Amino acid sequence: MDPVVTCLADFEALARGALPPATYAHIAGGSADGQTVDANTAALKQFRIVSRILVDCRDGSTRVSLMGEAFAHPMLLAPLSYQRLVHPEGEIATAQAADALDTGMIVSTLASQPLEAVAGVLPRNKWFQLYLQARWDDTISLVRRAESAGYTALVVTVDAPVTGMRNQAERAGFRQPADVVAVNLPATRDVGQIALEPGQSRVFQGAMLHAPTWEAIRRLLGETDLPIVLKGVLSAADARAARDLGVSGLVVSNHGGRALAPSPTAVEVLPEIRQAVGEDFPLLADGGVRRGSDVFVYLALGADAVLIGRPQLYALAVNGALGVARMLRLVRDELELTMALAGCPSVSDIGIDRLRHREVEPSS
Ligand code: FNR
Repeated sequence: MDPVVTCLADFEALARGALPPATYAHIAGGSADGQTVDANTAALKQFRIVSRILVDCRDGSTRVSLMGEAFAHPMLLAPLSYQRLVHPEGEIATAQAADALDTGMIVSTLASQPLEAVAGVLPRNKWFQLYLQARWDDTISLVRRAESAGYTALVVTVDAPVTGMRNQAERAGFRQPADVVAVNLPATRDVGQIALEPGQSRVFQGAMLHAPTWEAIRRLLGETDLPIVLKGVLSAADARAARDLGVSGLVVSNHGGRALAPSPTAVEVLPEIRQAVGEDFPLLADGGVRRGSDVFVYLALGADAVLIGRPQLYALAVNGALGVARMLRLVRDELELTMALAGCPSVSDIGIDRLRHREVEPSS
């Protein structure tokens, strides 16, 4: 491994040099001008961590429990589509790293490897990310396959009923390569667009025609015993509605700045969502996690765990499974160091009292 890799940002710099510019733009970019991608990182930078001194950390650990399932650390690999875009083994290599570093992985509906083959690499802590399909039978077929393959939760992504304005990727000329496809979906999954009447909208009566609603979540809850987590919640009212409907957990997320832009960051809304759902309801969050200290900030704001997105693809592009394993090792070591220096031997010691808002820096 290249000795210059000391932190996750180093992987991004190396990947930027190694990947075709359009592929890098597709991964790094967000919706519109990318303002929400930038906001995710900026929001985390507002905080300072207040240390408490002389704390006995000899029994320290990063272990957490999520919906009754034990995890060695409060970081999971976020669902990322089409991982073969950056490495021929794609999701299989990522899963090998997740297994080696005892890290939870959420496998995307849009994976470029069979969901069963990825599950085969992961003995535990594997969740399946579900995009509800236009045809209900296609959705249920994915659910049954995820159940049979041993996935232990379904993460239903609800913030991207249509693709946002991916102007940065468009401008760079990104095109999906013909050999990197969503292998878990039927080749023909279009329900057939009905011709629009004059005056009808390509968005409302077109792309959104088969978009899921709350009714689909209610129906899904009746179809499976797997816990259902909704990913992409940013409003306290939606969080409460989801909990009341019987959803088992939420991911507070703006989809890495790739859906609605501008939208709030998870950092901004997490405290009010925690308050809305209560202390014990499982809450995960994502967007901009690049350091162990970022994980700490999310936990202090009320998350039980975080998801790590783009750094997976950067590390995978640079060095396959070994790269992803190194990336996970770095962020895990950084979290442990941050906890030790802050005087927090366990995740439950990380509370809002450990955060201070940064003073506004005088402009030069
Ligand atoms: C994503 N994300 C995503 N989310 C999801 O639910 N299903 C998916 O298939 C994908 N695919 C995907 C591809 C790429 C290239 C990116 C960058 C993101 C969103 C992802 O799970 C996560 O919410 C964000 O990536 C988190 O932000 P960071 O860590 O990338 O800043």
